[in-house]
Amino acid sequence: MGEQRASFRAMQEGTAEDWNIISGHFRPFAKELPERILAHLKLLDGDFGGFPIDRLQHSLQTATRAHRDGRDEEYVVCALLHDIGDTLGSYNHPDIAAAILKPFVSPENLWMVEKHGVFQGYYFFHHLGMDRHLRDQFKDHPLYAYTAEFCAKYDAPAFDPDYPNEQLEFFEPMLRRVFAAPRNSMYAKAQEA
Ligand SMILES: [Fe+2]
Ligand SMILES: [Fe+2]
Repeated sequence: MGEQRASFRAMQEGTAEDWNIISGHFRPFAKELPERILAHLKLLDGDFGGFPIDRLQHSLQTATRAHRDGRDEEYVVCALLHDIGDTLGSYNHPDIAAAILKPFVSPENLWMVEKHGVFQGYYFFHHLGMDRHLRDQFKDHPLYAYTAEFCAKYDAPAFDPDYPNEQLEFFEPMLRRVFAAPRNSMYAKAQEA
């Protein structure tokens, strides 16, 4: 017996029975999201891009610095994932992390992740002929200081090959807890059913 499949050929023909089958597959699939995130983070392993350490080590170091500074679990997971989009979002990597985190984190942490690229630019845009003060477009935003602090304390210093960061396994339980259930999702009602 193969697995049950919906029978429609166009979504216009879909029935409650079809969607019952699809929902039955979605729930276990959604539960494995942390596994897929971990697998994707591992794609950053060995990806140096000219930096002193690879992108996985940079991610681990950013998260470790945040954790050792007493940040809460959600913040630490945001730090761990902030550059996960480097593989697919070559021109907008913060948007990828923000999209993954969006259903699971506070609006403050979401904004921080989404805008970290332009804030991090304060430390290097001028070396590329760009304006390092690009972040100043947000200087009146209530989360300006919060996001600048993320870059100053955790993201920008996290390129030290000698820093004793935690390994991915250390963050796995935190990641699983943060991604256990979406707080904001248009599918939340269907998931409760
Ligand atoms: Fe980044
Ligand atoms: Fe980073």
